[in-house]
This record gives sequence, structure tokens and C-alpha cells, in this order.
Amino acid sequence: MKKLTVRDVDVAGKKVFVRVDFNVPIDENTRTVTDEGRIRATLPTIQYLLDCRAKIILCSHLGRPAGKVVETLRMTIVAQRLSQILGQAVSMAKDCIGTGVEESVANLEEGQVLLLENVRFHPEEEVGASSFAQALAKLADIYVNDAFGASHRRHASIVGITEYLPSVAGLLLEKEIDTLNYILENPAHPFAALVGGANSGDKMGALGNIMNKVDFLLVGGGMAAPFLKAESYETGQSIVETGRLDTAAGLIDKARRNGVRLLFPIDVVVADEMGARATGAVVPVGKILPRHRIVDIGYRTIQSFKEALCRCQTVFWNGPVGIFELPQFAEGTKAMANELACLKATTVIGGGSTAEIVASLGLTGKMTFVSTGGGASMQYLGSQKLSGVEVLLDKNSPVAAKLRG
Ligand code: 3PG
Repeated sequence: MKKLTVRDVDVAGKKVFVRVDFNVPIDENTRTVTDEGRIRATLPTIQYLLDCRAKIILCSHLGRPAGKVVETLRMTIVAQRLSQILGQAVSMAKDCIGTGVEESVANLEEGQVLLLENVRFHPEEEVGASSFAQALAKLADIYVNDAFGASHRRHASIVGITEYLPSVAGLLLEKEIDTLNYILENPAHPFAALVGGANSGDKMGALGNIMNKVDFLLVGGGMAAPFLKAESYETGQSIVETGRLDTAAGLIDKARRNGVRLLFPIDVVVADEMGARATGAVVPVGKILPRHRIVDIGYRTIQSFKEALCRCQTVFWNGPVGIFELPQFAEGTKAMANELACLKATTVIGGGSTAEIVASLGLTGKMTFVSTGGGASMQYLGSQKLSGVEVLLDKNSPVAAKLRG
């Protein structure tokens, strides 16, 4: 990686602000972290800083509280879990900025860890307000970005803060970027991207760039709905925002022009209602009714996706192809995970929920690389650029020598 990392700067005894991505799934009933992969992934950076006797200030978002305090999205459970994993106390700040937090930081001794409260409780975070970025920066001497999964966001704790502190990469960020670069710079072809999950504007946007890289683009889950609608199929209750339809039509056109084989579902599992007792029926895509919701890909689609995937030398996968949380609608996603696990290809799993699914099926070790970032890895796949990485200091920056101490 061309950016300075935490290893390149003198952190001994310094207050180090580490932006991490502790956006982990939490079981609502037991109030426990159900997949701690993202917490464990940051241990190399935290351990390195502890060994250097730095004063560690960790900052993360959890969920999407939309700028308000949401009790169920407090970081307390994460602090407890991190403390158990680290085998040392992790204190919890009451907020992420302000005099109370500044006092907690002032009391921090070398080798101690403080976790700030959910940074997204403040609306200024997501709009990247500079006053908020400055208030965060006031807490520390050095900024470390180890939040690969959030590095595509131009948020105050990711981009804005770097204007006020010397800013370097953490060891997880370095590993993610180095591994993705290695895979993407000269990928073995045919190269396929399998994309599912909810159809967000972010992901639709990233697909345009991915088209320049891949030979096959396989689209399932909620992502398939705008493409099916753009091809004049009924998509029932599956949500398709108006703007997405135009994007999907543009992407279909681009795929044709670029010679990318674009595969949508040819049959789907549909249900009239959601919930634990919901049952599904397999229908060809031409037979979806207005009352239906698409909940999984059908058997013929599974077959056609598997046939394309087994021809590929490199596969990137982001997003379930059905409602994986409900076992009756998880068959397509399981089939995709098992297929990737068996391939003699380079397989890259893009973050968040897809990493959790692969872990829950015990298949993590069968994949070449499991990234901690979902949206971030998709964006990086397309452009090899992330806002939160671009703003970090370059290895050859004039201040590098000074920061070495
Ligand atoms: C993720 O889960 O992909 C990251 O934590 C980013 O979360 P966001 O999509 O809510 O910004």
C-alpha cells in the first residue's frame, strides 16, 4: 500500500484515534454480538498500539441511527466483547465529542483503551461537518483509519478528521487494500461478480465500474428487482425506486456494449407474506404476480449461476441472493456459498452480511479472501479508490520522516 501505516509513525505514549468498523450484528433478544469477525479483524492494530504503549481511542458507528441516540445501538455491548477478547478493560465514553469525553481521554494512561459512543448518534458525522470532524480530532495526536468497511463513506470520522491530524492506515486497512490490489490488478479470467442483497443506490452505482473488470455479472436477491423491472417483468412487492430503474436500464445497455454476460434470475421463489411461517413457491420470472414478493432465486437460476461460476477463475461475491435470515428462503444463497467453496478459482467475499453467511456455514476457510467491507469492497473492486484511503498520508509524503519520531 502506498499510504503510511501505523507502523511508520511514532505512536509511543501518544493519543491515537483509531476509526474502526465495529458495525457488528447484535442479537436483539440476548443482546450479544453474533459475529465478532470485524472486532477480531482489528486486533493486529489494537495489539500493535498496546505494545507501543499508546493511549488508544476507538471510534465506530453501529447501524444507521440517522443522527439520533438509539438505545439499542449503543456501543456498550461491543466494548464488553472487545474487553473479553483483549483480556483487559475497555472503558466506554458517554459520547464521542465534548468536554466529558475530553476528560476521559485526559485520564487515559499508556496502554489503555477507550471506546467512544456510536459516532452516528450525531447527524454531523454522515454529512461530514468540519466542526464535528475538528471536535473528534481534538481528542488525539494521530489518526488511524482501520475501518475498511466504512472507507467508502465521506463521513467526518473517515474523511473530515484527516484535515486536522496526521493520518495513517491501520493494519487491517493495509491488509484489505494489499489483498484486493493483488487480486484485482491482474485477475485470472473469466472473472465473475455475483451481487445480491438490497438494491441500494451505492451498489447500483458500483456495478457500472465493475462492468469494466468482469466477464460475467450475476445478479440476485433484492438487486435483481430493478433489472427484471427494466426488462418489463412484474416484480410485485419487491421494492424498486424510480431512479434505480433508469440505472438498471443503463447497466443492461453497458453490459451489452462491453460484452459482459449479465445473468438475472430466470425463476424465483415468491411469497405472499414475510415472517417465520411464510412459505414460498417457485415461479418463472414471467409469472410473478403483483401480490408476490421475491424471496429467493429458483432452481433453474441456481443451475444457470452455478454453470457460469464453474467456468470462472476469479469470483467476487457480495450480498445474499434471497432472504437468508429465513431458512426456507436461504437455499439459493447456501447453494452459491457451497459452489464458491468448491471452485478452483480465486474467491473473494465482500464483507458484512456475506461474510457472516459464509462464516455461519463454516466455509470461511474455503474462500481465498473474506473482506470485512461490503459496500467498500464493491466500490474498490470497480475503481480501486476509496475516499477514506485517498486522504491518508502517502509513504513518500514530506511529513513521513518527521512522524517516524
Ligand atoms: C458496512 O456494514 O458495510 C459498513 O459498516 C458500512 O455501513 P453503512 O453501509 O451503514 O455505511
